[in-house]
Amino acid sequence: MRVFIAGVDGYLGWPLAQHLSARGHEIAGVDAMLRRAWVAERGSVSAVPIASIGERLAAFRDASGASLSFTHLDLRDQPKLGETLAAFAPDAVVHLAECPSAPYSMIDFEHADFVQTNNVSGTLGLLFAMREHCPDAHLVKLGTMGEYGTPDMDIPEGFFEVEFRGRRDRLPFPRQAGSWYHWSKVFDSQNVSFACRLWGLAVTDVMQGIVYGSWCPPSDPRLSSRLDFDEAFGTSVNRFCCQAVIGHPITPYGSGTQSRGLLSLADSMQCLTLALEHPAAPGEYRVFNQLRDVVSIGRLAELVRDAARALGISARIAPVDNPRAEAEAHHYNPDSNKLRELGFRPSAPIDVELRRMIDDLVPHTDRVRAHAHRLPPTVRWEPAAACTASAAEEP
Ligand SMILES: NC(=O)c1ccc[n+]([C@@H]2O[C@H](COP(=O)([O-])OP(=O)(O)OC[C@H]3O[C@@H](n4cnc5c(N)ncnc54)[C@H](O)[C@@H]3O)[C@@H](O)[C@H]2O)c1
Repeated sequence: MRVFIAGVDGYLGWPLAQHLSARGHEIAGVDAMLRRAWVAERGSVSAVPIASIGERLAAFRDASGASLSFTHLDLRDQPKLGETLAAFAPDAVVHLAECPSAPYSMIDFEHADFVQTNNVSGTLGLLFAMREHCPDAHLVKLGTMGEYGTPDMDIPEGFFEVEFRGRRDRLPFPRQAGSWYHWSKVFDSQNVSFACRLWGLAVTDVMQGIVYGSWCPPSDPRLSSRLDFDEAFGTSVNRFCCQAVIGHPITPYGSGTQSRGLLSLADSMQCLTLALEHPAAPGEYRVFNQLRDVVSIGRLAELVRDAARALGISARIAPVDNPRAEAEAHHYNPDSNKLRELGFRPSAPIDVELRRMIDDLVPHTDRVRAHAHRLPPTVRWEPAAACTASAAEEP
């Protein structure tokens, strides 16, 4: 299969290119190298050093014997995107090319506006380019479980049956996002679903849980994927592991009773591959909830502490005030059967995966320690007045 990956330089995109290539698929990819710039803007680095895109492409060739056709472009450059898609003629397009950070989107108006424009406009550009140049290709677009929020009922996979005033219908399950970033993902999902209805595109919309884990093939460090730990771009588990490795307390936000769906990077690769190798039908808009475990943030902190201790690293937990506006005690029971029905078999359990990640991080302890000041939360979800007051209280 010819697979076009938008966002191929990212945390998920780079391993996905390798994983699909190892299964015999032909890969092309685009990226505007924005993630590297955002993390630098926040004064941080990837804990695992990453190679330049040129070095990555050389390593890809050395490892697979195949070349990855890469184009440096922004999805919002619609004409250039169209030319690139037309030249590659993909069977499938994986859309990962968005800004994935809730805290980054909550910094101020400029960041909220950037994240929404980048994500919504980039996705629209991709939809129009697909309509023009590869209308038969299967689109696998990444959404997030955060689109649903935390309703006081179970969460189905995208749609549910509703009865209202004696009539029944199958409708999109309500979205109740909790950051400007998450709202951008909701808008994308709506636009993708509309394009599918309008133009008959084949779409899998993946509501993905929080992804954790490292990707460090021992054969060649140029194949490693990034692993961020700063407050904006580090997901909770990755941040906790970095804290443990440098001997800092692990800091769940608030009471730690917030539950979230999670999966490892290896499981995310497996799920995305299943979605690609079992495509949606033309005109079908299907939604998969992609997660393996539902765990509270407090329990996650304990799992990381225990994984570190098993490796001889003494770690402790010290909760901090929650900078986010979110329900802390809530019901959380999302469905996630569709990928299992396609054959998803979770790989290593979370404790094994955490030990593996901590092992991969230990050689980079100094690098994490040098940027440890970027770990604590400074971006707050509060109204402006409260924000000013709490900022003034900080040292
Ligand atoms: N990592 C997670 O835990 C997680 C969880 C749920 C959903 N997702 C979603 O998965 C996708 C990929 O996430 P990730 O963690 O790999 O993020 P990432 O930031 O590492 O990767 C995204 C890549 O896309 C590129 N990009 C962004 N905007 C672009 C644009 N306009 N044009 C071209 N390239 C652009 C970035 O430079 C980056 O390399 C995102 O859509 C994200 O919302 C991620």
